[in-house]
Amino acid sequence: MLLDLVKKARSYRRYDPTKPISPETLAELTEAARLTPSAGNLQRLRYLAVTDKSEVLALTEGVKWAGYLTDWDGPGESEAPTAYLILLSPESTGVSQIDVGIAAETILLAAAEKGVGGCMILNFPREELTERYKLTGKYKIELVISLGVPAEKVELEEMKDGNVRYYRDEKDVHHVPKRPLAEVFFTPNRL
Ligand SMILES: Cc1cc2nc3c(=O)[nH]c(=O)nc-3n(C[C@H](O)[C@H](O)[C@H](O)COP(=O)(O)O)c2cc1C
Repeated sequence: MLLDLVKKARSYRRYDPTKPISPETLAELTEAARLTPSAGNLQRLRYLAVTDKSEVLALTEGVKWAGYLTDWDGPGESEAPTAYLILLSPESTGVSQIDVGIAAETILLAAAEKGVGGCMILNFPREELTERYKLTGKYKIELVISLGVPAEKVELEEMKDGNVRYYRDEKDVHHVPKRPLAEVFFTPNRL
């Protein structure tokens, strides 16, 4: 069921580095993104696959992971992602960012179906990546998505007292509070 897949497609930030994601799998995730809607059907997004271990580890170090987990610096080599997809567009606009959101969630859903997990990342080292992949004058980086086989448990829970902060419990399970349906779903006579 779609809702099961949506629930499974969480943000995973700790992975099993012994289980690589192949370029073929990354191409399959991109195939799903390729078919999503885009404004004016312009299809301006491009998808740069990164699987080289040293490049993956360098990017992993440059990302700012999980801002609310103040006592965790992000995955080290033993729990690092094994691949990244970098979403590019010739020019970043409000409209291109809507396209990016649609594509990115589609990638995470397609990944979840294959037992792969990921995390959308806006807090990435833009200059470093732009230089490394010689993107200047060609593409802007819209979003980075880390990918790998998850090595952490993530659970959704109903939000209490408006507290949006995700946290890890004593068993190292990552909990993500979500606002109750009644808080986000309106009808015209109940706004
Ligand atoms: C546009 C966007 C940017 C994000 N950037 C980061 C980021 O830089 N670092 C990070 O660790 N998580 C990032 N996240 C993941 C969010 O923290 C995550 O979606 C949120 O905590 C809810 O968890 P969930 O995805 O499991 O529902 C980002 C998510 C989105 C949608």
